[in-house]
Amino acid sequence: MIDEINRLLEEGKAELASASSEAQVEAARVKYLGKSGSLSALRKGMGKLAPAERPAMGKLVSEALSRFESLLKDQQHKIGEQALQRDLAREKLDVTLPGRSQKRGHRHPVSQALDDIVEIFARLGFHVADGPEIEWDLYNFEKLGIPSDHPARDMQDTFYLDLATQPEPPPGSPPTEGAQKQLLLRTHTSPVQARTMLAQPPPVRIIAPGKVYRCDSDITHTPMFHQVECLHVEQGLSMAHLRGTLDAFAKAFFGSSVKTRLRPSYFPFTEPSAEVDVSCAACGGKGCRLCKQTGWLEVLGSGMVNPDVLAGVGYDPEKVTGYAFGVGIDRLAMLRYGIDDLRSLFENDVRFLEQL
Ligand code: DAH
Repeated sequence: MIDEINRLLEEGKAELASASSEAQVEAARVKYLGKSGSLSALRKGMGKLAPAERPAMGKLVSEALSRFESLLKDQQHKIGEQALQRDLAREKLDVTLPGRSQKRGHRHPVSQALDDIVEIFARLGFHVADGPEIEWDLYNFEKLGIPSDHPARDMQDTFYLDLATQPEPPPGSPPTEGAQKQLLLRTHTSPVQARTMLAQPPPVRIIAPGKVYRCDSDITHTPMFHQVECLHVEQGLSMAHLRGTLDAFAKAFFGSSVKTRLRPSYFPFTEPSAEVDVSCAACGGKGCRLCKQTGWLEVLGSGMVNPDVLAGVGYDPEKVTGYAFGVGIDRLAMLRYGIDDLRSLFENDVRFLEQL
């Protein structure tokens, strides 16, 4: 029996030593220590021994079992350790690798210009007013002194809405003749002037930024573009106030060294009217490609609100006067960033926008 114990123990030891996976160690455990394992069988065989032999043999069997158990534990530990080392080696992180940086976006140059304009005018005491992009003829033209037979309508190539059933136009709209349509995409932000004055008594001090639409497309025109309208109506306003406001705005937007100049012009809703130029930011007024060698850039239309427009919204032109102007935001953004094709602002090419 002693030989048998030693033989089994040696055999078990060798098997454990050659086990190289958890599964093999477990197989050895079952083979020697399991219910019908060979070392377990020795214990069961004790009953067949003569009573005098049992204590000594029992001791030997117990020792063999606990020896095998401790070898088993050692081997389990060793294999667990090897597996851990393998995992660590495989999942090694290279902390010296450069990180993957996140791309950071920024606001669109037109949105940036718009935000700046709103902020500048807020500081000058103007409120932001709003109007619809689908507009009635009444507010886009009629109330601004541009009836349907007025030649100034040709200045603005209008998109009309071709609806199967035309909704009822607001009271005061001109009678419809033939195929004439009443609803259109607003061609400028000026209708917000009429809407605001009809809705409240003077004084009025608003700016109205937004999208406008014209049937026009080339390097300086896109069918949709952005304008900001400015309107100030109060007692005692003159061209001097218009000039001061424009100058303050131009300096805040383009920089304190910029100069402004007014040139006589014509708009049906202002009298007198003026076109406003700013000294070219690119060449400082010396003359360059951007300003076509003139040193000046035309940026907006302006004037004193026509008394007929004031009377048309129920204001008394004997008591109050006003000045107004409308400026193309996209054009301001172009001039600020030295872009020469307006369309590139709306193509949403990130490679282009990223440079700004
Ligand atoms: N609405 C004009 C346009 O889009 C610009 C304009 C000119 C607006 C004179 C005004 C103004 O408020 O007074 O061409």
